[in-house]
Amino acid sequence: MPIESLFAAARAVRDRAYAPYSGFQVGAAILTRNGHTYLGCNVENAAYPSGTCAEQAAISAMVAAGEKEIAAIAIAGSAPETCFPCGACRQRIREFADGDTKVIAGGTLGAERVETTLDALLPHAFGPEQLPGLSGLEG
Ligand code: THU
Repeated sequence: MPIESLFAAARAVRDRAYAPYSGFQVGAAILTRNGHTYLGCNVENAAYPSGTCAEQAAISAMVAAGEKEIAAIAIAGSAPETCFPCGACRQRIREFADGDTKVIAGGTLGAERVETTLDALLPHAFGPEQLPGLSGLEG
């Protein structure tokens, strides 16, 4: 799937976000190495810290469908400025991605779209292979 379509999918699911507290809606679309797409949006909560991020939801949908390899992820925020993944979500993406995994971040203005890599957003990342004895994580 071309990058433009992946971002369009993130933008479309952004409209379903439940963000009455921040007013900031986010959509995320993951393209897996198998060529499938998984979507997520942020879901806030009256107990503020219980809210969840769009990337987190898309990762859960991917894992629930039996996939674990992110080739690219697009994130679309509802403000004009580029919506980069938060620190916690960079780490969540890291679990299922390589340093060269594409991250496409944008807002409502096309000009603010940034295409980068996970390594650029989270250098020297800690990942599953750093845990001794777990390098063969499967399943
Ligand atoms: N948010 C995301 O869903 N993903 C991000 O990468 C940045 C922030 C959400 C969390 C919260 O619901 C709202 O945006 C404002 O922080």
